[in-house]
Amino acid sequence: MTLPVVQKLFAAERPLVLAHLLALSASDRRLRFGALMQDAAIERYVEGIDFSHDRLFGIFGLDMHLAGIAHLALEPAQRYAELGLSVDARERGKGFGFALLLRAKLHAVNRGFNTLLMYCLSENKTMVHLARKAGLKVVTDQGSVDAHLRLEAPSFGAVAQEAVEDQIALVDLFWKQQLQWLHMPVEAA
Ligand SMILES: CC(C)(COP(=O)(O)OP(=O)(O)OC[C@H]1O[C@@H](n2cnc3c(N)ncnc32)[C@H](O)[C@@H]1OP(=O)(O)O)[C@@H](O)C(=O)NCCC(=O)NCCS
Repeated sequence: MTLPVVQKLFAAERPLVLAHLLALSASDRRLRFGALMQDAAIERYVEGIDFSHDRLFGIFGLDMHLAGIAHLALEPAQRYAELGLSVDARERGKGFGFALLLRAKLHAVNRGFNTLLMYCLSENKTMVHLARKAGLKVVTDQGSVDAHLRLEAPSFGAVAQEAVEDQIALVDLFWKQQLQWLHMPVEAA
């Protein structure tokens, strides 16, 4: 399977991040955040994202909606990065979650972080499967799962891979935006 193209997200995309998270069902919100999240709590969470500190990634659909996002919260002092993932319910099973996980991991490796962490509920079999598939060590503890991976040191290969992925992402974004413009209704003269 070809991996979907993952984009870096910036503060200008905050409204799309919000729309993506608000579209998650109550049970998906619980799986994502480990607690029931009302709309207002999600709004506060998105408003509080510091794009200059943390790194967000996303996968855009052809219509430029955000089909999935990864929030990589960075703790430079302790050199660990914590990841949260969500994919639109209609887009699951296409490898989006795994692609977001791998992209976030590559980012953390290349910034010198030495541990990648994920927390999820133990009933979240999909996430446990994905974490294991990405090489994370999964530890179960009374209803929750702590998955962590000791990251390798940055290498020329990993830096080059990230540079190539960023270039591909640029082309992907360009042609999806072109597609949007082509479908835009022409304003009456
Ligand atoms: C977890 C989530 C991000 C996965 O997204 P996704 O795009 O469907 O993920 P992928 O398509 O990359 O992979 C799904 C994998 O789970 C597997 N899977 C699906 N249901 C499963 C189950 N019940 N048990 C075990 N594995 C399962 C699929 O077979 C697939 O693995 P494969 O590619 O090796 O065959 C998505 O389900 C989601 O947003 N859930 C709600 C929020 C959440 O749980 N976030 C994680 C906590 S941070």
